[in-house]
Amino acid sequence: MSLDATLARIDADLGAATDRLIDLLRIPSISTDPAFKADCDRAADWLVADLQSLGATAEKRPTPGHPMVVGHIGEGSPHLLFYGHYDVQPVDPLDLWDRDPFDPQLEDTPAGKVIRGRGSSDDKGQLMTFVEACRAWIAENGQLPCKITFFFEGEEESGSPSLIPFMKDNADELKTDIALICDTGLFGDSTPAIVTMLRGLLGEELTITAASKDLHSGMYGGPAMNPIRVLSRIIAGLHDDQGRITVPGFYDGVPELPDEIRAQWQNLAFDHASFLGDVDLSDPAGEQDRTPLEMIWSRPTCEVNGIKGGYTGDGFKTVLPSKASAKISFRLVGQQDPHAIRENFRAYVESQLPADCEVDWHGHGASPASQMQIDHPAFEAARLALSDEWPNPAAYVGCGGSIPIAGYFKSILDTDAMLIGFGKDDDQIHSPNEKYDLSSFHKGIRSWARILDALS
Ligand code: BES
Ligand code: ZN
Repeated sequence: MSLDATLARIDADLGAATDRLIDLLRIPSISTDPAFKADCDRAADWLVADLQSLGATAEKRPTPGHPMVVGHIGEGSPHLLFYGHYDVQPVDPLDLWDRDPFDPQLEDTPAGKVIRGRGSSDDKGQLMTFVEACRAWIAENGQLPCKITFFFEGEEESGSPSLIPFMKDNADELKTDIALICDTGLFGDSTPAIVTMLRGLLGEELTITAASKDLHSGMYGGPAMNPIRVLSRIIAGLHDDQGRITVPGFYDGVPELPDEIRAQWQNLAFDHASFLGDVDLSDPAGEQDRTPLEMIWSRPTCEVNGIKGGYTGDGFKTVLPSKASAKISFRLVGQQDPHAIRENFRAYVESQLPADCEVDWHGHGASPASQMQIDHPAFEAARLALSDEWPNPAAYVGCGGSIPIAGYFKSILDTDAMLIGFGKDDDQIHSPNEKYDLSSFHKGIRSWARILDALS
């Protein structure tokens, strides 16, 4: 068995691997929008067939939401699990895309070749890095060096509602020596990163209703309460002028950063000015006594993700709307309890409603922050393997995003999880013109082959 031969095979097969990824990217598996349910199903079928083409036993497993894909291949120890998600984010605003988000293509850019399309980086391109590493390994060596389970989810982008029951019901099958999650990024452009902590997420949607119908703002404006005014006042009050969140009890369970992690992060070459400068901003907007890196990796936040009410079409309409709504998310750290925060937030909003106003709630995902166990021996082995592939040694980093499953491996299956991914900050995940660098895809596949070699 030779790692070099597997790496050479990966290089030689990159074109075919890219074509397979492009094929998967053509399926608009937007999990949050029921209109795309059949497409989510199709993406799951595609993955089942692809895993079967490797020789794996693979199945689409139904859930009350979108199906999971579970596959098994190989024998022996250790038993590794690969997790990725095949669902993608909605594509709006569509007019800001330079091409059809689901007609992906390999594009030449001044910075190199990129695969452009929704899901290219988050997460289909990343998910396929380890499938392709396994394919090359098998092609070169006849079989894998150990037992591997593939576990692909179709609801990650919509809060993973079916995940906990599915993991509990299939615990025996999904419990492995370690779970490898490919859904995060590099640190900068060429430093591989292993994520040691991830933020949790709580999603809340509220609709405030005042009058029972829309009114003429000349006839009723003044005496009739405007729900947009109520909603904006509540939203404006969610942060104080130091950038702290005002929901009672919100900071319960938020730890101070341990000194050793602070020191680790200080060694990372993170350029605060260019982090904001790259998106044409200059002034950090969060908690005033924190650095941007701390704000993203280790502090909780509250963001309004969408707001709706009144007349927003072309032209102008003097309407006094009956309803106004907002989608608000909280990123959580440490021991913050998403359910307690949901309760406190709702009580806080309700306490500020004036007479004649009502609020309706729709809760979205609620997952706590997660902390990885980096003393598990697989971490050091993977760190060295990554350092062989990339120009810089691998770094331990935090992650501002959320991946609900990261904590569930430990809490439900007692399996440690390791997060390694190859996305770049400018991949425009969740935004128009999402891309994945061909070099991320290529070196990502090579990285997994090296990690597989190191762990087995
Ligand atoms: N791949 C992301 C997580 C991520 C974001 C990693 C940024 C690295 C940098 C993941 O697919 C994601 O977007 N998660 C959602 C989860 C939510 C909908 C429960 C998120 O973070 O908003
Ligand atoms: Zn995402």
